[in-house]
Amino acid sequence: MNSPRPTSDSASDAAARVLSDGWSRRIENLRISVTDRCNFRCVYCIPEDIEWLPRKKLLTFEEITRIARVAIECGIKKLRLTGGEPLLRKDLPKLIGELARLPGLADLALTTNGTELPRLAKPLADAGLERINVSLDSLDRATFEKLAQRDALAQVLAGIDAAEAAGLLPISINCVVIRGVNDGEAVDFARFARERRFEVRFIEFMPLEHGQRWGEHALVPGHELRARIDAEFPLAPSPDQDPHAPSKDWIFADGAPGTVGFIDSVTAPFCQTCNRIRLTADGKLRTCLFSLREHDVLGPMRAGIDDAGLAELLVGAVATKELKHHISDGLFVKPERTMSRIGG
Ligand code: 5AD
Ligand code: SF4
Repeated sequence: MNSPRPTSDSASDAAARVLSDGWSRRIENLRISVTDRCNFRCVYCIPEDIEWLPRKKLLTFEEITRIARVAIECGIKKLRLTGGEPLLRKDLPKLIGELARLPGLADLALTTNGTELPRLAKPLADAGLERINVSLDSLDRATFEKLAQRDALAQVLAGIDAAEAAGLLPISINCVVIRGVNDGEAVDFARFARERRFEVRFIEFMPLEHGQRWGEHALVPGHELRARIDAEFPLAPSPDQDPHAPSKDWIFADGAPGTVGFIDSVTAPFCQTCNRIRLTADGKLRTCLFSLREHDVLGPMRAGIDDAGLAELLVGAVATKELKHHISDGLFVKPERTMSRIGG
């Protein structure tokens, strides 16, 4: 449990602290948003007329690396960079390089919309990135444009090719499904997974959008998509299912490569096994996607907090982690931040 992690002076202090919440969940997964900016305007994620955070309010690479190091000393094992669109952050491969060198880190990944991958896939892989998730909601140009509000399908597909060529494998595809828009493409995506050896994950639309687009009418339960795919390509539960992963994964019963997974956050919440926390680009810790309360890290860091204090701050924040979200029990209050400012 307290395996030695030789790093900084604070290591022995912090190693004694473990990120465990009030419901006995051990937190091992930290998602770091590196920018609130994005070159898309996905209808379920970001306001069209959003104003970006001023640069000085963003965590610097040094600050991000320091938080990550202390978090790893407290038991975080996996890091994922998100945005906005993380590849819009200047010199991102440099940050990847710094994070990849942190002792004790088991997994370093990134979620991207893919547009910058033709240019950056290779530098990112060279810097130590292991895996990527590419958000791709439609394989049809017009539907893609309707969701992302940008005509960029070809660019994203080229980005996926570049990631494959750079060895960022296995490639995961995230697909947010909205009824009447892209729900007819489930089987097409399953075929795409089989042909390209991808892990395609269908994500239920969550109420983290700007405005009022979310609702029962827009939500497509994951089981409905699974039934449609199963009718065309029979599925079997994945033997490699990670119990903490939000996605329930399925393999193709005929032995074809690729997988399909379902992140049924609304119809089948996985809060009991949630082991993640989030850090926003402006340095606030969020213990749940739907948190109404944030824990400022940037302020104390710029005021000179030491590593032991920072570890204590993380431990204290994690102790307040919410038991579950309230989307379906009438107690739901929508957070002020849209997904683009939380980091997916
Ligand atoms: N519901 C579900 N998933 C969302 N994402 C963004 N907004 C939402 C939402 N309202 C997902 C994107 C992307 C990741 C960053 O978060 O599809 O894969
Ligand atoms: Fe940008 Fe990703 Fe949000 Fe789309 S889902 S607007 S690509 S951050």
